[in-house]
Amino acid sequence: METQLKKRLAILASGGGSNLQSVIDATKTEILNNADVCIVISNKKEAYALTRASKALIETLFINPKDFKNPEEYDTHIVSLLKAREIDLIILAGYLKILTKPIIAEFKNRIINIHPSLLPNYGGKNMYGMKVHKEVIKDNAIKSGCSVHLVTEEIDAGPILAQTEVEIFPEDTPESLADRVLIQEHILLPLTIAKYINTYDWSALK
Ligand code: GRF
Repeated sequence: METQLKKRLAILASGGGSNLQSVIDATKTEILNNADVCIVISNKKEAYALTRASKALIETLFINPKDFKNPEEYDTHIVSLLKAREIDLIILAGYLKILTKPIIAEFKNRIINIHPSLLPNYGGKNMYGMKVHKEVIKDNAIKSGCSVHLVTEEIDAGPILAQTEVEIFPEDTPESLADRVLIQEHILLPLTIAKYINTYDWSALK
């Protein structure tokens, strides 16, 4: 079989980076052996995701939104960085900035996000992190979960690539639910990236 070059991933993260870590770890196993994490970019200087990447000897960049006139210029700058590094696929792993047209257009169908709910429920503007789990618990939902989807201009509304359901117990708090959902995120994201790489028509990019 022709030896396939590994696809080059850029990961955007704003927080602790546990999803980033699961992707980094998976690239060292059979799970995600068709990809390399080439750069990790954050809009937050203190994001522990940057520390995780540094420890894994992966290039890191803090890009300060304050250095740009508007989000579109910020994203245009990121596009130039990613193209210079011949990035194939962008992964949003707890990235709290909303992507704008320049990056979504340049990387059409090549931006993947992980969201801690069963989309389309509990997604959209301002639905991120603990806010999601608080709403789910408040609504007395009987199940939640996580979703991996392609990023489009509409927040959390792109084609869903994979989901995992997580049962909600009566004694659950938003925190206990978040912990169980996060465990499933760490499993689902690398698997879904690997599968997407194997099914995407990369020839269309040439
Ligand atoms: C995760 O719950 C993810 O679903 C959401 O933000 C959180 C990121 O956590 N997008 P971490 O930074 O990967 O630990």
